[in-house]
Amino acid sequence: MYPIKLLHTSTTGTLMALRTILEFPDLRLRTIATPVTDFGSSLEALIDDMLETMYSAGGIGLAATQIDVHQRILVIDVSEDRNTPQVFVNPTFTISDQENLDYDEGCLSIPGFYETISRPKTVVIHSQDQHGKHFHLEANGILAVCIQHEIDHLDGKLMVDYISRLKRDRIRSKLEKKQKAL
Ligand code: NI
Repeated sequence: MYPIKLLHTSTTGTLMALRTILEFPDLRLRTIATPVTDFGSSLEALIDDMLETMYSAGGIGLAATQIDVHQRILVIDVSEDRNTPQVFVNPTFTISDQENLDYDEGCLSIPGFYETISRPKTVVIHSQDQHGKHFHLEANGILAVCIQHEIDHLDGKLMVDYISRLKRDRIRSKLEKKQKAL
């Protein structure tokens, strides 16, 4: 999707870079990410790149796994104005309500496909921020869906794992055909 790396300067003067997003069925998407232990400036730069890449691709969430960095980091922005980024480092969640929500999910690593997936509607997120500070928040609706989708990425899991093999194989062959044509 992004064969050329574009470099440019943000308003704060930091150099950011668009990263290439891995696409299904790339096996690197199956890697299980390891916890972040170093909260230094390279983490900050990586998070800037992730935000830039997510916004540029029009996504509402991106896991580091998707840019071939196998550390437990997510960026999310579910706001309508696309100006409320949220950063989660080493996130986990617990289900706080057994009620499920069916949502038409899309994925930057599975471009062009949407599948209805049922997930817990309300979850409590336990996470660290980009500086290592612990926090928790209750998420529901689209934020809950998005964060569960992104945490799946950190565990090497994709939304196509929730659908039938027939549907998954059809998506795989369509994307492989598209990738070969590039
Ligand atoms: Ni995704």
